[in-house]
Amino acid sequence: MSRPEYPNLDIVPVAQRIAPEQRQRILDNPQFGAFFSEHMVTIPWRQGVWQRGSLVPFGPLTLSPATSSLHYGQAVFEGLKAYRHADGRIFAFRPGMNAKRFASSARRLAMPELPSERFLEAMEALVREDRDWIPSAPETSLYIRPLLFATEAALGVRPANEYLLVMFSSPVGAYFPRGMAPVNLWISTEHVRAAPFGTGAAKCAGNYAASLEAQALAKTMGCEQVLYLDAIQRKFVEELGGMNFFMVLRPKGSSGSAPLQELTLVTPDLSSGTLLAGVTRDSILRLAPDLGYRVEERPISVDELQEAAQDGSLCEAFACGTAAVITPIGSLASAKMKVVLNGGKTGAVTQSLRDQLIGIQYGQRPDPYGWMYPIQ
Ligand SMILES: Cc1ncc(COP(=O)(O)O)c(C=O)c1O
Repeated sequence: MSRPEYPNLDIVPVAQRIAPEQRQRILDNPQFGAFFSEHMVTIPWRQGVWQRGSLVPFGPLTLSPATSSLHYGQAVFEGLKAYRHADGRIFAFRPGMNAKRFASSARRLAMPELPSERFLEAMEALVREDRDWIPSAPETSLYIRPLLFATEAALGVRPANEYLLVMFSSPVGAYFPRGMAPVNLWISTEHVRAAPFGTGAAKCAGNYAASLEAQALAKTMGCEQVLYLDAIQRKFVEELGGMNFFMVLRPKGSSGSAPLQELTLVTPDLSSGTLLAGVTRDSILRLAPDLGYRVEERPISVDELQEAAQDGSLCEAFACGTAAVITPIGSLASAKMKVVLNGGKTGAVTQSLRDQLIGIQYGQRPDPYGWMYPIQ
């Protein structure tokens, strides 16, 4: 069925919706990425153009074993969230940024770029149709997963001639099972995430597959996540497997209670092209100065981290991303060193940034940046 508000989509909803009590049981304890809402949007790309899409019941896809993305990895994805505010209204957080990054990831993998209007149309149709799947408890949301992959059934390393966009959603709670508890990071010297001129700035499936061995090693070292270094010198901090990295510095020699204006948030700059340009990272860089913090985007070496930890100027560090929001870092360890940050507890700066970001996302604080995208 076509509807005037969706010029490029046919709407074919499920014949019978899940019983409200059954859905509520899921929404009461959604976990992360464990349950899916009832619909998905699919948009095929064939004969050189994006075709009409459809919103259909969520369900399995039928694929040939020769599907080229299964072999050669042409697969990119995104992650964004929709929130239910206390007054019942629904908003997505900066979806235009995800639409642009989705297109640039596709470009890097020689895949077709979905125009932002089609991305947003699909996202709005999905969220509206599955609005009952947006949980309302604190820190819960509807995680939206757009995925684009090559569907052509053919062997041979070359860009495919057919692709499919699939967008589906999952009601979610905290990403880390321990919630906002500080995470311990393993600084990896044996594995790199991304090399210059590679695919580090693209959100492509292969980057995540390549991170899993390092992640498993980190676990054996008692750490939850890996902090990756630059591929060439293994000297500069880049990011985590799925989050960007920030440290908070106070002037050397200042006491534990340095005034806000003297605190600086530092995050690695994006000039190497090896980091994913996080939407959360960008948001923190914009809102931190309004909370009174200075911000810097520049290289951070492991030596600097270690020295700053020793002389007391490194007061806090945190990781950020859509899934984990802002997560404090309790310690940093490598084969050569270990530093505990802020006594292994969540610091005041990390907490204030998180409160501000979450406050905007859940409509409890004003949004002077125009980040919240209403879905009527
Ligand atoms: C490698 C990587 N870095 C950083 C991020 C954080 O990006 P965002 O804030 O847009 O979720 C993600 C998550 O998308 C990621 O996968």
